[in-house]
Amino acid sequence: MSDQTRLKITPTRGLRGEISVPGDKSISHRAVMLGALAQGETVATNFLSGEDCLATIRCFQALGVEIDGPRDDNVRIRGRGLFALQEPEDVLDTGNSGTTMRLLLGILAGQPFFSVVTGDASLRRRPMGRVTQPLLQMGAVCMGRDGANYAPIAVSGGRLRAISHQLPVASAQLKSALLLAGLFADERTIISEPIPTRDHTERMLAAFGASLSREGRTVGVDPAPQLQGREITVPGDISSAAFLIVGALITPDSDLLVRGVGVNPTRTGVLDALSRMGARITVRDFRDSGGEPVADIRVQSSMLQGTVIDGPLIPRLIDEIPILTVAAVFARGETVFRDATELRVKESDRLSAIRMELNRLGADIHETPDGLLIRGTGRLAGGTCRSHGDHRIAMAAAIAGLGAARETCIEDASCTSVSFPAFTGALNSLRLE
Ligand code: S3P
Repeated sequence: MSDQTRLKITPTRGLRGEISVPGDKSISHRAVMLGALAQGETVATNFLSGEDCLATIRCFQALGVEIDGPRDDNVRIRGRGLFALQEPEDVLDTGNSGTTMRLLLGILAGQPFFSVVTGDASLRRRPMGRVTQPLLQMGAVCMGRDGANYAPIAVSGGRLRAISHQLPVASAQLKSALLLAGLFADERTIISEPIPTRDHTERMLAAFGASLSREGRTVGVDPAPQLQGREITVPGDISSAAFLIVGALITPDSDLLVRGVGVNPTRTGVLDALSRMGARITVRDFRDSGGEPVADIRVQSSMLQGTVIDGPLIPRLIDEIPILTVAAVFARGETVFRDATELRVKESDRLSAIRMELNRLGADIHETPDGLLIRGTGRLAGGTCRSHGDHRIAMAAAIAGLGAARETCIEDASCTSVSFPAFTGALNSLRLE
């Protein structure tokens, strides 16, 4: 189906005021999944009612779980316990959501029934072998194109054998899938990651009563006798906040306060990178929200400098590279991204997509095999560009448009609803004319 939605962005002098961003996407998915596997009720407030998380809800409803909502961004999940999901009558459609597909594969591997998982055209091109291969070692049957590397993937699972597995790539989705499969294993499952990635699964599993061990970059999970449902207040998504933060930085008269943002240290690489670039950002009023740190973030217009972003910082800002590229375009000097090959297998090839689209607007960006080289021009002309069906490319281009000289038009822009349905409204409520 072709997407006719166009987003028109006129330049602005700045973003001013206070705002809360929608709930964290990663944590919202996990609340539904763990809630479904727990005993008793789980209530998630400030749940992200974006397309990806709605896909997770529909998949678990198809597995027999009673879920009410989202209503006013609250979701109520009546857990079935670890061993009472039902065989789905139809294919489970995870839409555009890689997190749904990968974590669900881990759970389905532990179920004594047959299921098939698929997704949209973009997701059917993304690699799943990194999940299905270790699940095969654990004893599940997974079948799909290219040796169960591409969806649709059929799974027939049951009681699993524990494994000790070194992840070949730094991926929280992969780590999480195997930890969830580990709940259905005969002994402790041990996962080592090459570089630390977001740890929301570990934190939430512990909060639901699972037994976990952690030593450096290695996590172990014991087969859980049972998980206990609970209330979860989902923190604001730092990945959504990042768009508004960069929008405020690159326009001249901004002063913005983003309230209630999740600042889990495995996710705050974007703040570290921007601070290194000279951004005026203050993080204050730290508090805890069900095991996740939350804070308010104040941002003021800033003169940015280029920097180098690579190594262990990359997984801590993996979803923010498109918007950090926009910051780099408006900075003085060169910015280099390295070690970011994973971006080629996200919702789009994000290295290629962001280079192509920002260059259409007047940027000077070169692609390397594992990153980008950006020559900061301090300004952009504006113009017309495309989203590649990728929510983060659409929103990064829109923010670039705020700082451009003339109007910017983003084609195929309905994908912003994947993670930030109220994106346009949020910009309009903050922008100075
Ligand atoms: C996610 C992990 C990241 C991220 C994605 C959400 C998660 O993927 O890009 O948007 O919720 O675990 P990888 O860890 O696989 O790179």
